[in-house]
Amino acid sequence: MDIYEIINDLYKTNFAPREELLFVLNNIDDESKKYLIEKSHLTRMKTYGNKVYTRGLIEFTNYCVRNCRYCGIRAENIKADRYRLTLEEILECADIGAKLGYKTYVLQGGEDPYYTDRVMVEIIEKIKKKYPDSAITISLGERSYESYQKMFKAGADRYLLRHETASKELYDELHPNASFENRRNCLLDLKEIGYQIGAGFMVGIPNQTNENLVEDLLYIKDLNPHMCGIGPFIPHEDTPLSKEKAGSLDDTTTLLALLRLLLPSVLLPATTALGSINPVGREMGIKAGCNVVMPNLSPTTVREKYSLYNGKICTGDEAAECRKCIEGRINRAGFELDMSRGDNIEWKRRLN
Ligand code: 5AD
Ligand code: FES
Repeated sequence: MDIYEIINDLYKTNFAPREELLFVLNNIDDESKKYLIEKSHLTRMKTYGNKVYTRGLIEFTNYCVRNCRYCGIRAENIKADRYRLTLEEILECADIGAKLGYKTYVLQGGEDPYYTDRVMVEIIEKIKKKYPDSAITISLGERSYESYQKMFKAGADRYLLRHETASKELYDELHPNASFENRRNCLLDLKEIGYQIGAGFMVGIPNQTNENLVEDLLYIKDLNPHMCGIGPFIPHEDTPLSKEKAGSLDDTTTLLALLRLLLPSVLLPATTALGSINPVGREMGIKAGCNVVMPNLSPTTVREKYSLYNGKICTGDEAAECRKCIEGRINRAGFELDMSRGDNIEWKRRLN
């Protein structure tokens, strides 16, 4: 097999069989990586051009009933300083976001039963009433079909639920008392209800193999989500994985570039985790095919507390600073910030 031929085929057909993807992951070197990034860049220029969409992230609760072994806000971490934002506080974040020009809000939290359907519906309706042109994205873990449906009817447009890993074995190892199948079913439910969905996975989690990562790529290709979040695993000191090694920037950008080639119109965020393992991680992500950034809109008083991993960036910066900082970074990398809703182009095409 020839790696350049595989990349060329992938660029032309947006498909590669399992063995070829595995060959790329096993054999990529500096030069072929450069070629891969070039092709990924060309692909994104054809779909989204040099635009990078922006979403305002509101981390509204760090309570969580789950015990994901990698995550700093897992239920068993008694050291986590828990908080919940009130409806008023969430609306304040949205007001600040609106003033800064955001047209998308991502409401993210742990799996927190305090936010019942009724509470969520009220939050969503209030934001939507005040900012009807803005898209609302929810990221609140696994819920029932009915719950997803109620939030959708209230005005939620998108839902982020990373599948975390497409390997059942690895999934079970990392998520005590959770169901691999249920998580996947949630993604299917969300899609059926009409959400723009975001799946995603971590790179470099302990015991993860290149075979597992190929599974992730093929799963995403098949699921065809509107978005996909890919970020490196980063250890958190108060978790069972505290002593493990973090995923690398290089491996993460390889996977981002491959996914851009497999799904030319997927929205790919340059994640906070990527920016946290390297000062220019997000810029490298954008160059590798990412076209979304999610600057933080959470009150600075809670930023430190939403600690999924150590060394998270932007915890001390006001929303306005993040907004300015991210724009500068995008421009310096040769791209342009786009403050519109930033819908997936395929999804938009189907609506029209
Ligand atoms: N390192 C990197 N990413 C993490 N996440 C959770 N914990 C970590 C960690 N230690 C990711 C998960 C989750 C998303 C919100 O953050 O993929 O879905
Ligand atoms: Fe938050 Fe740079 S994006 S400070």
